[in-house]
Amino acid sequence: MSVKNAMTADFLRSAYGGESMAHMRYLIWGQTAEKNGFPNIGRLFKAVSNAEWVHAKNHFEVLKQQMGDSSVTAGGVFGLTDIVENLQGAINGEDHEIKQMYPVYLENAKFQQEKDAERSFNFALNAEKQHAQLFREAQALAKQNKDMGEEKIYVCPVCGYTVKGEVPEKCPICGAEKQSFKEF
Ligand SMILES: [Fe+2]
Ligand SMILES: [Fe+2]
Repeated sequence: MSVKNAMTADFLRSAYGGESMAHMRYLIWGQTAEKNGFPNIGRLFKAVSNAEWVHAKNHFEVLKQQMGDSSVTAGGVFGLTDIVENLQGAINGEDHEIKQMYPVYLENAKFQQEKDAERSFNFALNAEKQHAQLFREAQALAKQNKDMGEEKIYVCPVCGYTVKGEVPEKCPICGAEKQSFKEF
């Protein structure tokens, strides 16, 4: 895996920064949800946190030959209040990635013929769509002071695709086998 162009490398670093923060933020929001009586929404946060780790790792691996220091500018959502607001923060972060960040990063990678970056951005963009949907469902329940159900949540270790209940035979985004999915 490699990257040749400075602009694509910058976007990979920024996306790595954004995903790293999302990973940490979801662990914090997840722990808070658990403490406040929403263990299953807490579990959703943990699962999605793992998916963001997959995205960060993918971006990092594309940059593996770019050894050296870098200052990273990346968007991140802050705030730690109640469950409904924390979920709104999560929805806002995912929507930003789906509508603004990844479409631009992806088009740039295509323009610069950066196949590895294109793959990594494409995986993240598509997985974030599921995340936004899952957080919206969780927020609708939280608004009625209800937790999510007990269904297991599964994360694809290759692309971060996240699904509740049943895992498809093959990941719809990357084609990974059902058996490889991580269960939460
Ligand atoms: Fe996400
Ligand atoms: Fe996948």
